[in-house]
Amino acid sequence: MNRKIAVIGAGNVGASCAMYLAEANIADIIILDIQDGIPQGKALDLTQAGPVRGYNAMLTGTTEYKDIAGSDLVIVTAGLARKPGMTREDLLNKNAEIVGGIGKEIKSHCPDAYVIVVSNPLDLMTYHMQKVTGFPSHRVMGQAGVLDSIRFRAFIAMELGVAMSDTQALVMGGHGDTMVPLPRYASVGGIPIRELISQDKIDAMVARATDGGGEIVRLLKTGSAYYAPAAASVDMAQAVFADQKKLLPASAHLTGQYGIDDLYIGVPVILGAGGVEKIVELKLEDSEMAKLQKSAATYKENLKILGY
Ligand code: LAC
Repeated sequence: MNRKIAVIGAGNVGASCAMYLAEANIADIIILDIQDGIPQGKALDLTQAGPVRGYNAMLTGTTEYKDIAGSDLVIVTAGLARKPGMTREDLLNKNAEIVGGIGKEIKSHCPDAYVIVVSNPLDLMTYHMQKVTGFPSHRVMGQAGVLDSIRFRAFIAMELGVAMSDTQALVMGGHGDTMVPLPRYASVGGIPIRELISQDKIDAMVARATDGGGEIVRLLKTGSAYYAPAAASVDMAQAVFADQKKLLPASAHLTGQYGIDDLYIGVPVILGAGGVEKIVELKLEDSEMAKLQKSAATYKENLKILGY
């Protein structure tokens, strides 16, 4: 294939990204990890699945950053995952070091690439990546809102017994305890969920979506979610690669929108060949706006820990 996507990190999220990307058949894939043998082994294994899974994407694995040269898109999944009892912010300093190092390599080996950050704490790591690479902010985005929204969508489908694909939901704010689910925008086949589901049940679904990552951490015990995070990342990659102009929530750099300046946080965006082509400004209700501002304030504080 004439296009190339690099996946940094060959752990569960990285390998699942590579798998969904291969099945999307949009580019060859290079998986990079510092642990020699793992990216090569997983890439070869995934390549060998191609003949029966119907993809022609070639996958290679490497430990060397020079091999990601020429990548059109880089998905950054590297970093430590949450263990039970840890917040995403506990990961802040350790993962900032890892993500900062990766950013420098991306800048030197693929200076024209688009970057989707998946490492936690997501909104802060995306900010850090943009600063370290110095790339224009429309080329650096964080994957979080799609994940939080598809979790909400899955709960709606489970509750109503309807097709997942007919559900819609929007979750804004930071990818953490301060996220801002917006149930009034959630719908099934265009019908607002409040006409189909009782308020109590909606409230419970909102709470479950907010705790969506935590619920999986508690079940797995030794790590955090990876299938849905990877699927969400690949949804964004496809939007960029196929210039889909998808309207979806992503962590994007705000410069005054929603009254928030110089911060990455989850907002609805139009994603296409130009990356974050537009930040969509919704007229939020006062309570929703207050939650978004609270989320933003938390991340502004955490950025100070990183020296910004
Ligand atoms: C989650 C982690 C990946 O939400 O942030 O599952």
